Amino acid sequence: MANVIIVGAQWGDEGKGKVVDIYTEYANDVVRYQGGNNAGHTLVVGNEKTILHLIPSGILHEGKRCVIGNGVVLDPKVFLQEIEGLKKKGYLKDDAQLVVDRNVHIIMPYHKAIDIAREKNSGDRKIGTTGRGIGPTYEDKIGRRGIRLIDLVNPQTFARKVKEQLPEKNFILEKLLGEAPLSEEAILDEYNEYARALVKYLGNASVILNKSIEARHNVLFEGAQGSLLDVDHGTYPYVTSSSTVAGGACTGTGVGPRFIDEVIGISKAYVTRVGEGPFPTELNDEMGEHLRQAGQEFGSTTGRPRRTGWFDAVALREAVRTNGMTGLAITKMDVLNDLDTIKICTAYSYRGELLEEFPQDLEILKESKPVYEEIDGWKTNISGATTLGELPATARSYLQKLEEVTGCPVVLVSVGARRDQTIQVKNPFEKG
Ligand code: GDP
Ligand code: IMO
Ligand code: MG
Repeated sequence: MANVIIVGAQWGDEGKGKVVDIYTEYANDVVRYQGGNNAGHTLVVGNEKTILHLIPSGILHEGKRCVIGNGVVLDPKVFLQEIEGLKKKGYLKDDAQLVVDRNVHIIMPYHKAIDIAREKNSGDRKIGTTGRGIGPTYEDKIGRRGIRLIDLVNPQTFARKVKEQLPEKNFILEKLLGEAPLSEEAILDEYNEYARALVKYLGNASVILNKSIEARHNVLFEGAQGSLLDVDHGTYPYVTSSSTVAGGACTGTGVGPRFIDEVIGISKAYVTRVGEGPFPTELNDEMGEHLRQAGQEFGSTTGRPRRTGWFDAVALREAVRTNGMTGLAITKMDVLNDLDTIKICTAYSYRGELLEEFPQDLEILKESKPVYEEIDGWKTNISGATTLGELPATARSYLQKLEEVTGCPVVLVSVGARRDQTIQVKNPFEKG
């Protein structure tokens, strides 16, 4: 029996969705704990691809309960569209499979409008957000002005809260950002309809999950984004607005830390980043383009080309520490198939000084240059491997090198997008 957290160990898009889909087999409940539909988690089963933005990546497994915890921010329109899409494909036959916590904060039309307008007006200081209203919704949550699902499903409360909020939001939109104001009536009409459609999914995530844990069932916590996008531990201000690290799994679900057994960080065999912000191992050359094409590095949410670069052990050690990671899942190994040699950044050089730790000062990070070790590539197609033994010795030594420089054992290796293109080294749900 084990409760396991999955976290992104880089800047997002590490392949969390795929790993969660695989681990769902061993879990009873799969729960999202932060973020919103800024996430795009891709699952490939056979030839069918499914991209999920809000609903946990366990949903393709019949009979596994999927929970959206209180730490998530939810766009009701996207949530309902996602349900419809899944049902059309024959999933989610039983509505009881999906539960959303009543305390989830909702993304309102003004949050999206403010997010987009702020980015537009920020020039070269923009963050490169997904434009989904994530930041403004979390601002209102922390500012104690947020509107939650429990408010949405009570028409009187909802109308009162929208009435209270709208003058300030319209002031910001019109006077500060030069945008059109939003109509109270239109918001109420639209959102009251969503309320009627989603009320049947509401529940108490903390009660459900703790009962499950008490019954000695396994809970799988699904992180979104990545550790370096964490609002506290990431490359602030080029981050998202939630606690993406493992600690967020507790506050975002109402499950205490003593019930967490394993924290598995997901990392690509190289690095990508979408949006702005420092990225020491970024490759703005042919190799960077090769990684983008071979790895099909285009955003699952916005379609933006992802920035690409070599594996960064300094950044990864930061993620190992801030998450208390117990294991590492390395994805997209197959993307490196054709390379003669592969580089790993083991330290940074800053004005002649060797840095082993990820700098807290963004100005130092921006100026840090990667110090590389170069190792031989395997020049073999490994995408059919299902055991470590089937990998060429050079590929195994790349994995060994990653364990050595990160100080974290590799528990899973992914060699293709499909569910079956996976090497499970150690199952985190099995103790010992
Ligand atoms: P997430 O946000 O962490 O769930 O990751 P995304 O789904 O946004 O991006 C990962 C992308 O890589 C998706 O298109 C996956 O289908 C794909 N993918 C995952 N693992 C592998 C792998 O091992 N090899 C290859 N080639 N693609 C993979
Ligand atoms: P998954 O779960 C990659 C990035 C955005 C931007 C910054 C802030 O699929 O790994 P936001 O809209 O959250 O305010 O944007 O964070 N970002 C992601 N990058 N994967 C994600 O999610 C991301 N979610 C947000 O590109 O730089
Ligand atoms: Mg993604």
